[in-house]
Amino acid sequence: MKSSRISGFYKKTIEERKALITEMHPFTEEDLAVFESVAPLAEDTADNMIENVVGTFQLPLGLGLNFLINGKEYTIPMAIEEASVVASASHIAKIVRDAGGFVTESTERVMIGQIQVVGCSDYTEAKEAVLENKQILIDAANDAFPSIVTRGGGAEDLDVRILNEAADSKFGKMLIVHLYVNTVDAMGANLVNTMAESIAPLVEEITQGKVYLRILSNLADRSLARARCIIPPHLLGTGDFSGEAVRDGVIHAYEFAASDPYRAVTHNKGIMNGIDPIVIATGNDWRAVEAGAHAYAVKDGQYTSMTTWYKDEQGNLVGELELPMSIGIVGGATRVHPMAKLALKLLEVNSAKELAEVIVAVGLAQNLGALKALATEGIQKGHMTLHSRSVAMAAGAAGEMVDIIAQELIKNNDIRVGKAKELVEKYKR
Ligand code: MEV
Repeated sequence: MKSSRISGFYKKTIEERKALITEMHPFTEEDLAVFESVAPLAEDTADNMIENVVGTFQLPLGLGLNFLINGKEYTIPMAIEEASVVASASHIAKIVRDAGGFVTESTERVMIGQIQVVGCSDYTEAKEAVLENKQILIDAANDAFPSIVTRGGGAEDLDVRILNEAADSKFGKMLIVHLYVNTVDAMGANLVNTMAESIAPLVEEITQGKVYLRILSNLADRSLARARCIIPPHLLGTGDFSGEAVRDGVIHAYEFAASDPYRAVTHNKGIMNGIDPIVIATGNDWRAVEAGAHAYAVKDGQYTSMTTWYKDEQGNLVGELELPMSIGIVGGATRVHPMAKLALKLLEVNSAKELAEVIVAVGLAQNLGALKALATEGIQKGHMTLHSRSVAMAAGAAGEMVDIIAQELIKNNDIRVGKAKELVEKYKR
């Protein structure tokens, strides 16, 4: 892909933007037709996806620009209803790109299938019996879904825990089998659930207990993706704030979130502002990603910041984010929804691992965007600038007139369509 660093993209018309990204990506005629379509998701496709369909629901799809991750250029498709998010991600991506870009890595993509067993006469013996039959259970799980083994994945390991062992426990004892499945490029819910259900009778036989639940865990802590950025302070300065002041403000903001769950929730919501839009645009299950991310944020006992921000020995601002990322690039809506297919093409990712890494890099950028604004001029100014642009457009401004009218509205502290119409008339004369 050509460089994702495009200046003034926001000033172009939608048609001009489409033309630009068509130059950057090898789209087919069919892809372009999806862009041109009024409702890319046809009702009969939607009808096959969920039940009781009466229509489809659209969101704006914006592009996160300037992203350089592990030396590769990315255009980020972001489906979201909230103003400022895409602009803020692109703004931070530009700063981080000037600092060398994001660096990311990830673990293998191993998802967990849980099997709940109750009614065992001796739980310790039952646990040992499961462990003795580990390989038989793993083989049986793979026999239930051989295509994932062909793709280089499949059930790889198994573990057993006994819950509620304490004599004063509020709930009864239960044995929980964890089946570890490498899902390669799939999110894996379907295949893990199929495996868990298919080995359940064998687990009952081995444990002499009764199996109830057989389901994937969304706490995908064996499918982790990490992103990091190191930014010299001179790239952070804004308005009257020096780079050092911004860096220190961001670190104070992080320490607030790290110490206080009330702040951490909002801080993390800002991270998910960057993550959910890509998860949605690529047709992935954003509830699974949300649930996993928030559970991971409490892994040390207190709900805390998902990101970490600190100053290194050279005085650079360092940011890190590690999250479970249960997403895929095959299966589910990723290959059914025409916009999701296009979003994956736009991203030019070759694996689910790569997509997971891109997603956390955008989450990290989004967090810095929010903290930088909050620790300096506040977020309302940026919001107002964007809001004034949409008001100007709603009043009939187009092209370069949009910026001029928007600036006038801000200067007059009167951001209303009526006022904008007056200005448009004046400008036309
Ligand atoms: C708004 O959608 C997100 C923020 O509240 C995040 C934050 O406070 O860090 C700005």
